[in-house]
Amino acid sequence: MKKIAIMTAGGDCAGLNSVIKSVVLSANKKGIEVVGIIDGYIGFVEKKYKTLTEKDVADIETIGGTILGSSNKENPSCYPDKEDKTKHYDMIDESISSLKTIGVEAMVIVGGDGTLDSAKVINSRGMRVIGIPKTIDNDMIASDPTIGFDTAISNVVDAISKLKSTAYSHRRVLVVETMGRTSGYLTLYGGFAAGADIILLPEKDYNLKKVCDRVKQIMENTKRYVIIAASEACKEVGKEEVIARIVENSFEQKRYGGVSERLARDIEYITGYESRSIILGHIQRGGSPCPSDIILGARLGDYAFRLLLEGESGYIVGTNQNELVKIKFPEDRVPRLLDFNNNDLIKTAKNMGIYFGD
Ligand code: F6P
Repeated sequence: MKKIAIMTAGGDCAGLNSVIKSVVLSANKKGIEVVGIIDGYIGFVEKKYKTLTEKDVADIETIGGTILGSSNKENPSCYPDKEDKTKHYDMIDESISSLKTIGVEAMVIVGGDGTLDSAKVINSRGMRVIGIPKTIDNDMIASDPTIGFDTAISNVVDAISKLKSTAYSHRRVLVVETMGRTSGYLTLYGGFAAGADIILLPEKDYNLKKVCDRVKQIMENTKRYVIIAASEACKEVGKEEVIARIVENSFEQKRYGGVSERLARDIEYITGYESRSIILGHIQRGGSPCPSDIILGARLGDYAFRLLLEGESGYIVGTNQNELVKIKFPEDRVPRLLDFNNNDLIKTAKNMGIYFGD
């Protein structure tokens, strides 16, 4: 093996640069060149590549996001025509040929479920691939945790800690909306670690009246303010999730957002306590990676490279109970959700009086 490629695709997160660094340094040490693909599947299809050297990756592990760029819209098997956006083409074979023409023999593809679905197709069409899972949502079966999750938890904790003082001063109810799509990991871990009073998860529809009763109980008996950590895809019993926009052609077309506004309005109306909503948004994906994401990124990058070196392909690598693991690309995409009734952190939180809207 003389040359491999690395690509980061899907929503960015902290820890991606650590993956890039470890792949480049481990490969270069064995005399193997690494080509970086720019902007995820855009660069894959549009042939935007850049050779990465030791110099390019010096000190990048502490920088958030990805030096290669990313995109969470493009799907290489359904790629829009440049002029006529209504037409789409399967660009996978052509993109693989183009990489092979410059000598690329294998790829490391870092991404979420959608990205790795395409990675599986690329692998099946004749390019050796090892996938690496990353997402702040921590909703992938291949790894627990995923790269980016720990940093996102810190970002949520940091934001909620700052919001507490203003909530206290104004005697307010603050509904803090967190990302995570249909999985509640980020909200649960971030909300718990930040000391939220109420945590609303997509895995359990909330009862608005009971949430309001709990708000009143806290305001009357315990504290001057209430913090509610609400997952972007949580919903009231009998109602639908709040969708902010549909992004056509992307792997996950629904983008959630806005449930906290509805909740804050309802809570203020029902309880009479002044309420505000805060959508944390992309701040959760940003900033420098925490040490555990730097370490996880480096371990998975190096492991992926070692597998390629041994002639392996068709795997997603991850960690399970801190041990490196590899699984074959799964047949179907199944998001990993919280087991609401059995999750031990939920049990602990409930024992400590945190309310989940159930
Ligand atoms: O999957 C990562 C994620 O940050 C989700 O938590 C969130 O719902 C989504 O991406 C946001 O997507 P976009 O960057 O397209 O707004």
